Amino acid sequence: MFHLDEKQLYLSFWRVVTYAGIHYTQGMKSLVSGIQPSGVPTIGHILGTVKNWRHYQESYRCHFFIADLHAITVQQDPAVLRANSLKLLAFFLASGVDPKKSSVTIQSHVPQHAELSWLLSCFTHLGELSRMTQFKDKSASHSTKAEPFGLFAYPVLMAADILLHEADFVPVGADQKQHIELTRDLVIRFNHRYGEVLKMPEPIIPEFGARVRSLQDPTKKMSKSDSNAQGYISIDDAPEVIVKKIKKAVTDSVGVVAYDNERPGISSLVEMYSVLTDQSVDAVEVAYQGVGYGKFKKDLADVLVSIIEPIQIEMKRLLGDEDYLDSLMSAQSRLVISRTAPYLRKIKDAIGLL
Ligand code: AMP
Ligand code: TRP
Repeated sequence: MFHLDEKQLYLSFWRVVTYAGIHYTQGMKSLVSGIQPSGVPTIGHILGTVKNWRHYQESYRCHFFIADLHAITVQQDPAVLRANSLKLLAFFLASGVDPKKSSVTIQSHVPQHAELSWLLSCFTHLGELSRMTQFKDKSASHSTKAEPFGLFAYPVLMAADILLHEADFVPVGADQKQHIELTRDLVIRFNHRYGEVLKMPEPIIPEFGARVRSLQDPTKKMSKSDSNAQGYISIDDAPEVIVKKIKKAVTDSVGVVAYDNERPGISSLVEMYSVLTDQSVDAVEVAYQGVGYGKFKKDLADVLVSIIEPIQIEMKRLLGDEDYLDSLMSAQSRLVISRTAPYLRKIKDAIGLL
């Protein structure tokens, strides 16, 4: 696993080149990440991955995308899917993704993702897909034999997303680690047969914040598809709702603000506060020694509001400018298609496709 620190940031000293319409420094490493528009993003997405995107784009050639082809592996209402996809695009931009520095697309606008996914599926074993824990969890809600094939094949599409962009790094939350391991196995298998064609990616999983827990059931991951909205803080929540949800977050009767594996509720809140304020967990524990949960929760809610509110304001502005979002989507997909098509050709050549 790759933990990012300043020293490890790739410092390039080569000249600037233009690649898919964006100026990059030659020799820059590349990075890819995506989020499914299967709901409204939560604070889990911010902590687990998006928080660092704006920094990555200063040092890496970044591609961020809205994983709509992944979202349809579970049933989606068409109007809601469209609205959530646009909202996620606005969220990326409002969180600091700068289309002059990074490329940003809707996955289904770049057909190369689906095409590479088919090619890779011919190198993926049924056994390794059936071991994916996310498939096991998600398919549990279907009756046996009625699970969609797309849900089973989902990790192959994710491998295609990563490999199509020749990613060196993939920042994700902890739940995605297994999918990236599968991608790495595919690279070894493919390259063993055809030579060094696919680039080996490395996950970036933050030490803290990689698995933000539900506010109501801290043994579970905070999820945008939780049926109980009290369990998550969404990017749509008004400040007073955020305050209320944190106030009601499940803790315990010990009353000590500390990170302790035996007490997942308060530990999760401490972790959240530490990541959001860029302090160590120890520093947070010291600052709240002898102070009850009430004051700590109030401070945490204030920090959350101060982070979410500016994003909400910018999202609202962007969503009010449909022309801008439309022209951005088409310009970006054209650029990314022109960048990825030659590489996909190279993969097809290696396989022997005319
Ligand atoms: P998804 O909503 O499943 O498309 O997730 C998009 C990205 O956000 C993935 O990298 C996830 O690992 C990450 N993520 C989602 N929920 C959480 C969470 N509760 N804590 C940390 N990271 C998360
Ligand atoms: N599977 C990821 C998730 O559910 C989303 C995703 C799809 C992704 N393709 C990706 C993340 C490629 C990183 C890189 O969280």
